[in-house]
Amino acid sequence: MFQGSANFVGRQYELSLLRERLQQPGVVAISAVSGMGGVGKTELATQYARQHEADYPGGICWLNARESDLAAEILQFALFNMNLEVPQELGAQKLNLEQQVKWFWNNWRPTEGLVLIVLDDVTSLKSCRKLLPKSNRFRILMTTRLRRIDTNFVEISLDVLSAEDALILLTKVLGEQDQRVKQELQVAENLCAWLGYLPLGLELVGRYLVEDPDLSLAEMLQRLKAQQLQDEAINPEDEQLQDTEMTAKRGVKAAFELSWRELNQKTQCVGELLSLFALDVILWEWVEFTSKSLNWVEADVKEAKKQLYKLHLIQSLVDGDSGYKIHPLIREFLKVKQAASEQVDELKRAFAETFIAIAQQIPQSPTQEIIKSVKDAIPHLAEVAQNLTDAVSDENLYWVFN
Ligand SMILES: Nc1ncnc2c1ncn2[C@@H]1O[C@H](COP(=O)(O)OP(=O)(O)OP(=O)(O)O)[C@@H](O)[C@H]1O
Ligand SMILES: [Mg+2]
Repeated sequence: MFQGSANFVGRQYELSLLRERLQQPGVVAISAVSGMGGVGKTELATQYARQHEADYPGGICWLNARESDLAAEILQFALFNMNLEVPQELGAQKLNLEQQVKWFWNNWRPTEGLVLIVLDDVTSLKSCRKLLPKSNRFRILMTTRLRRIDTNFVEISLDVLSAEDALILLTKVLGEQDQRVKQELQVAENLCAWLGYLPLGLELVGRYLVEDPDLSLAEMLQRLKAQQLQDEAINPEDEQLQDTEMTAKRGVKAAFELSWRELNQKTQCVGELLSLFALDVILWEWVEFTSKSLNWVEADVKEAKKQLYKLHLIQSLVDGDSGYKIHPLIREFLKVKQAASEQVDELKRAFAETFIAIAQQIPQSPTQEIIKSVKDAIPHLAEVAQNLTDAVSDENLYWVFN
């Protein structure tokens, strides 16, 4: 149930926050850990549960909220973990599932002491809200990909690892072969950066390297760059993963696919468009400008931004600002989707036009001020020049390269 990774790194601040919040007396505290797929929400909850087992003399109940019927899951827990058969009727009254769950919480054993309930991977609050216990002795810890799942909950928004911790994780996963990191230190750092410091990617690549002692880190990185998100190193077969002690049970692509499926169609289109941008700050006005030339409905694009943000697929830089960033692996994922899309040429053309329009505004001898205002656009313009020249007419190529 909660074994946890032997290679756990970092997250000390988040663990201390959880301890503080979940142990607070008086309030029925629901804490949520939110973040993108593979960032380490389940691992954090696992480590917390392990380290603080003693704080919960009433016991710990771990429930998988995704892909399962939560009521059934709770009743199974009663049966298999507590050896408790929940009655289907009481007196002459038949109990529905919700009532059975309520009965179970009321008859929780032992009858005293704090209880920790972990709801792992909640995708919608609607279905589980009415199944949660109300009594204050139950402390609830939720993990979810949804940002701000409920304003009444205290939320920890989990970010990727720091560059240092990422390197430590890679080193730990390599175990006895950890000299490989030292031998190719610079490459190892680049590898961590390419993976966007995402624990899931780091762990999978580390494990893959262990299996192949002759593969240099440089070759691994080169292969990942060439294969993008299709490489087997970060997408092992499901069965392969089930056989490991890993907390995660999905490869990178499969993990992101779950979020992708929750997006509506227009949001998916916006996602594909976003993959054309360079890996840098994206001003939302550029997305709006481009979508206008694609004749997309403004409200759809607004909704797309909300959805992508809600699911941690884009990150806002400063609250209230219009600058966004995309995680490098999410960008790779969206690129795969974009390449398979029917409207790929149209997207590229509109995207290139946006930045050509910006380039055309730059006068022959630009002032400092103008340079500053277009500075953010330069990486994306470079993207057009390097990768999208097909989408640009000959006369406009001049602007791009100038
Ligand atoms: N701090 C960490 N140190 C070491 N390994 C970690 C850390 N965080 C996560 N991992 C590992 O990375 C993998 C992905 O983490 P985890 O399954 O917790 O992600 P998640 O955020 O729950 O993803 P999902 O949204 O898909 O459920 C796991 O195998 C886990 O063991
Ligand atoms: Mg998880």
